[in-house]
Amino acid sequence: MNQQNYQDAQVYIEKLRGFTAELAEVLGHTPKCFVLTFGCQQNEADSEKLAGMAQDMGYELCDDPADADLIAVNTCAIREHAEQKALSIVGQYKHLKAKKPSLIIAVCGCMVAQEHRREDIKHKYPYVDLTFGTASLHRFPELLWQKIARSRRIFCPEETEYIVAEGMPITRSSDYRAWVSIMYGCNNFCSYCIVPYVRGRERSRDKDEVIAEVRDLVARGYKDITLLGQNVNSYAKGKDYDFADLLSELDKIEGEYVLRFMTSHPKDASYKLIDVMASSKHIAHQFHLPLQSGSDSILKAMNRHYDKARYLDIVRYIREKMPDAALSSDIIVGFPGETDADFEDTMDILRTVRFDMLFSFIYSPRKGTPAAEKEQIDPKIKGERFDRLLALQHDIALEKNQPMVGKTIRVLCDGPSKNNPEIYSGREEGNKIVFFTATPEQVGKFVQVKIDRADAFALWGEIVN
Ligand code: 5AD
Ligand code: SF4
Repeated sequence: MNQQNYQDAQVYIEKLRGFTAELAEVLGHTPKCFVLTFGCQQNEADSEKLAGMAQDMGYELCDDPADADLIAVNTCAIREHAEQKALSIVGQYKHLKAKKPSLIIAVCGCMVAQEHRREDIKHKYPYVDLTFGTASLHRFPELLWQKIARSRRIFCPEETEYIVAEGMPITRSSDYRAWVSIMYGCNNFCSYCIVPYVRGRERSRDKDEVIAEVRDLVARGYKDITLLGQNVNSYAKGKDYDFADLLSELDKIEGEYVLRFMTSHPKDASYKLIDVMASSKHIAHQFHLPLQSGSDSILKAMNRHYDKARYLDIVRYIREKMPDAALSSDIIVGFPGETDADFEDTMDILRTVRFDMLFSFIYSPRKGTPAAEKEQIDPKIKGERFDRLLALQHDIALEKNQPMVGKTIRVLCDGPSKNNPEIYSGREEGNKIVFFTATPEQVGKFVQVKIDRADAFALWGEIVN
């Protein structure tokens, strides 16, 4: 069954509510669900829907898997490391199931959208009850009910038809920062990337649905809203409006909030989009524009459909229209065939563009993608290049952050920092992390912080009135 809308799941939700109510009588408390997330913001957003659906089915959310009666592990497949981490955690749940045989363990998301990983789970993790991929997210209640009613393991194959499911309940993890998915899937087939295989073809949500969701968030006091899609620049392709139109519509919503988006593909980023950002009231002057490599021949082998000149032209236009824009990027080091000269091209473009933030990755072969079939680079060389790239970016980021000292900037306060509860952390418009002293009442609010120290990764300061 392919549900177009979460309302179609109602019949299963009713059955599950009956099931959880009975279970509650046996347990003496409401059954609990633990959701664990790996991967990107899109996965975070999907997990907020898993949590919403679990509550709808009568579960209470919990933070400790040992307390749970239902565990949902939302996995990532972007690099080998992400998959290994998820598998290792799932491995640790074996003893939880041994202690509590009624525990239901679901593994979902990108990793199990791949058949070979479903097979791994089927054979090596016999205590996992249910797997389903990202395209079946809205079928969580139906699949869980199948598992319970038939009392057998369910391995949901990939959907043959990709839909935009609306109406799923969302239990947001924050009450002032929010993710809003505007499109799903990807059509680009970059030769290194697993995403098109695990998230299916591009499909966009209706503009009115997105506007209604953002309007509601702003009305509820959300301060920082990020629009999500694998390639937001191709939002609503084939319709008579585009991503820039969506942004200018959203910007009209009255209130005190910041709007961000990710991710942009350089081949589709338009001057129109940059113009809308520059003249907007709410859109952060922040651009995450994954470059991947500074070498034209590697970009071609990656199937990226842009070259260095095109990339530099977009950067030039962004800086012309928004001189204060914070620019960030993704780089892959050690793609098959990357020569020393190709790598030097990447180093050169980093020196030219001078990104505020850089997310760098060592190439990880993904089964089923074209690049995985190519001759691979020696891991030692990959490691050396990666270290050189980090060192260069460290110096650049430090130079870019230093001039912030002495300035007073608006920061959204997130609360006590991980390492020191006395020091609070927050994010400024460019999404850089800022540390300062604050009070619990200031959490979730914008504060003005005068910066007195900066390093390559963060800024420090004090709140001023
Ligand atoms: N190996 C390493 N990094 C990858 N990315 C995507 N696929 C791979 C891979 N196979 C990186 C890209 C992308 C980011 C989200 O992850 O830089 O932009
Ligand atoms: Fe996100 Fe891609 Fe990882 Fe899926 S594979 S969770 S889309 S980063």
